[in-house]
Amino acid sequence: MTAVKRAVAVLISGRGTNLRALIESTLAADHPARIALVLSNKAEAEGLEIAKAAGIETALIESRGKERAVFDAEMDALLKAKGIEYICLAGFMRLLTTEFVQAWYGRMINIHPSLLPAFRGTDVHARVIESGARFSGCTVHFVSPEVDAGPIILQAAVPVPQDATAESLAAAVLEQEHALYPQALRLLTEGRLVIEGQRVRVKN
Ligand code: GRF
Repeated sequence: MTAVKRAVAVLISGRGTNLRALIESTLAADHPARIALVLSNKAEAEGLEIAKAAGIETALIESRGKERAVFDAEMDALLKAKGIEYICLAGFMRLLTTEFVQAWYGRMINIHPSLLPAFRGTDVHARVIESGARFSGCTVHFVSPEVDAGPIILQAAVPVPQDATAESLAAAVLEQEHALYPQALRLLTEGRLVIEGQRVRVKN
């Protein structure tokens, strides 16, 4: 008997290369999850095409000019209607209400292109280079009400070469993101992550 796969929604606003990595990883026969829905807050998000090409259902809920609570309530209703159990934020450029985050706490993860807790927020790579840090990287974490501050699941480090530019560092980090995010989603949907305060324990 084949087990029912856990339904995951990926929320995007743009390019969707992490979405692509997540889709590819979940195609494995033994993967506990499937990407059941790709939701964008922007009509022009290229990631929507990636989802369609993979035969995955897409949804567009425009956020522009919409009150945060209204937008989040629309998303929440759709996610529930589709039977979504887990959410991956993948380049989703919209702040979420505390209410939405709390409702999905422990079931919603994000990828951030720095070694958190350093360099939260946007424009990360230029700030890393400016700081003189020798290493950067990426972090997958549970989403908590404070932006980029939730319990850390996995990280990968990337050296910052002397001649690094924001673009070259972004590319090097992105390559690691594409490996790291699928690993974290697998652990999550296998039920192997236990949140203990700010720490995450990975069960064997
Ligand atoms: C990635 O760098 C991710 O870490 C950040 O937004 C970017 C999304 O890229 N949160 P993509 O849309 O997955 O290509």
